[in-house]
Amino acid sequence: MSTAKLIINDQEHEFPLIEGSEGEVGINVRSLRSSTGVITLDPGYANTGSCRSAITFIDGEKGILRYRGYPIEQLAENASFVEVCYLLIYGELPTQAQLEEFSAGLVYHSMIHEDMKKFFEGYPPTAHPMSILSSMISSLGTFYSDTEAETDLNITRLISKIKTIAAFSYKKSCGQPFIYPRNDLSYSANFLHMMFAVPAEPYEVPDVLARSLNLLLILHADHEQNCSTSTARMVGSSGATLFHAISAAISALSGPLHGGANQKVIEQLSMIQADGGDYQKYVDKAKDKDDEFRLMGFGHRVYKNFDPRSRILKGSADEVLDALGVDDPLLEIAKNLEEVALKDEYFVERKLYPNVDFYSGILYRAMGIPTDMFTVMFALGRLPGWLAHWREMCADPDNRINRPRQIYTGAEERAYVAVGDR
Ligand code: SDX
Repeated sequence: MSTAKLIINDQEHEFPLIEGSEGEVGINVRSLRSSTGVITLDPGYANTGSCRSAITFIDGEKGILRYRGYPIEQLAENASFVEVCYLLIYGELPTQAQLEEFSAGLVYHSMIHEDMKKFFEGYPPTAHPMSILSSMISSLGTFYSDTEAETDLNITRLISKIKTIAAFSYKKSCGQPFIYPRNDLSYSANFLHMMFAVPAEPYEVPDVLARSLNLLLILHADHEQNCSTSTARMVGSSGATLFHAISAAISALSGPLHGGANQKVIEQLSMIQADGGDYQKYVDKAKDKDDEFRLMGFGHRVYKNFDPRSRILKGSADEVLDALGVDDPLLEIAKNLEEVALKDEYFVERKLYPNVDFYSGILYRAMGIPTDMFTVMFALGRLPGWLAHWREMCADPDNRINRPRQIYTGAEERAYVAVGDR
């Protein structure tokens, strides 16, 4: 592989180029500061690779997303979420025996310690479930040791218990009694049963609901070095526990520019509906530089043509809503909004297309999941991705504590003046 040449103060420096398995090329600048005295500056890390990774490949120009080499379209069509968890974390699709063992672990570890139920009592009913989830996952770590020998068990515990904690936080918000996990249900059906069952009468999870959730979880399962995954790596790089790294990732995901966008999309579509469905008015607001309004669910740091996940969700939305017998006017508003935006020069010029969050909320809503649980659903899906990246980081011989540099722009040296003399 050839090198990159950098001329600084008339002195030429060479740095090795590295190439990934899909032809991506990077400049390895790990000796930059020691050999030149200068650093790079890249706010938001848009041009900076933080690591080598073999988990997920995205081609933003071609709208390609593959988990461990498998196209997202094929996994969405054929796999179970539990299979995808195993694939992302351990690198290969499980054999029947491996799948059975992994699934049995996820079933067996669904319960949380009874003492953790008391934590829920301290939250106000209005507590956002993402705040509850982040602190509960961190607290989960107080019940288990974080030794290397327990890593696989803790990975299983987290995937299994996050759905129980999420469902309990919903029941807490609506004042209903917690519904315990059942060992006879699939991952998705078990979560939905804990969400929607009530003690007064039996509740059977409709198959279409379980299948829709399975699809949504797969589509959210990983997305390389996004903000929350990079957070999990950043926190894990200090040697903090797996529970702390995942708790931090949940906090990062909660932001409206990241996973919190799916909740904002539905709030925006509802606002447009309440405003007479005038979606052109909101497209114009999104274009107005003097207006901080953004079209939530549009745009992406990497995808510059289309987000394949959004295409899959848009394609399944009609089918799922029909099967659920739901006629949601917000879906038509979303489709009209997309159609208008994609013809508008502002969006075309900036390559702003619907992302995964634009249609996901329509499906969650049709499934009866409340809006403030939407980002929790994103976290349930993304957990295997966070776990896979944390595990890859721990095994990476190149890994070191993440500690970026800066360009200092503050005051130059000055002497302290006693408070009376200022
Ligand atoms: C996710 O990284 C991942 O992979 C994330 C994710 C995952 O799976 O983990 O895919 C999940 O987070 C999807 C994104 C969800 N967020 C939103 O939908 C919020 C709305 N979108 C944006 O705020 C924005 O598009 C981002 C945050 C997604 C991307 O931000 P960037 O790459 O920093 O782009 P930018 O803010 O610099 O915008 C570039 C231009 C700007 O205009 P100019 O200054 O060039 O004139 O595009 C404009 C922005 O004003 N722009 C928008 C817009 N998004 C960008 N204008 C109106 N509406 C929008 N939604």
